[in-house]
Amino acid sequence: MTNEKVSTGIDGLNTMLGGGFPQGQIIALLGSCGTGKTTLSLQFIWTGLQSGEKCIFISLEEGEADIISNAMNYGWDLKPHVENGTLTLVKLEPSDAKSTLAKIKSELPAYIKNTGAKRVVFDSISLLSMLFDSDSERRSGLFELCKQIKNSGATALFTAEVDPDNPDVSRDGLVEYVADGVILLRYNEANNDIHLSVRIVKLRRSNHQRRIKPYNITARGIEVLEKAEVF
Ligand SMILES: Nc1ncnc2c1ncn2[C@@H]1O[C@H](COP(=O)(O)OP(=O)(O)OP(=O)(O)O)[C@@H](O)[C@H]1O
Ligand SMILES: [Mg+2]
Repeated sequence: MTNEKVSTGIDGLNTMLGGGFPQGQIIALLGSCGTGKTTLSLQFIWTGLQSGEKCIFISLEEGEADIISNAMNYGWDLKPHVENGTLTLVKLEPSDAKSTLAKIKSELPAYIKNTGAKRVVFDSISLLSMLFDSDSERRSGLFELCKQIKNSGATALFTAEVDPDNPDVSRDGLVEYVADGVILLRYNEANNDIHLSVRIVKLRRSNHQRRIKPYNITARGIEVLEKAEVF
């Protein structure tokens, strides 16, 4: 276990994290729809690509073309990286649960190892989680997935939807326990405006900040206003 940090590409968030994501850890990114989970994931991948790191972006929601145009919306041109093999975009079919889960189990660990990927994203782990038949399979399946990713040495980001009745916890109530770190994105309404805020809920073996900070989604991605206070 090293003490190295992996930059998220977002200065304010890196500061909150004590430098970045701890290398080799699995981070869960929780937030309701539109809080910027996919954006932050793409920013994390884009930052890795800038330093020549191999990356894998696994989507259960969008196909390759949509992921590429999503990133392009922020000025991040993924296409050349896909073409030269630095970035692998994977679309998993939630409709075909059995083959998707089998694929993840049998192919993904070897794939991460073989490509030497440093950064892996699952967008979203909630959709993956729903493919399991029972709670116990879900639990053991997610634990197994995490174990394999950790064996590979890659740093991973799992996006997760929140429970509609409690925006502080994930829909499956599980991902925050299997992950090493948890980041929570929230929006609050005030004065007819939506305010986005971020906090680090947990981060194993790291001295991270606990204060809630405001952030914006801009044409250049996410920007955390680390010097500002939310309230
Ligand atoms: N160029 C832009 N400038 C400013 N804000 C933008 C821009 N592009 C997108 N956004 C904002 O980002 C939001 C989408 O963020 P994103 O798709 O990352 O959220 P998400 O948490 O992944 O949502 P979901 O739960 O639906 O997957 C949009 O709803 C919009 O408010
Ligand atoms: Mg999304």
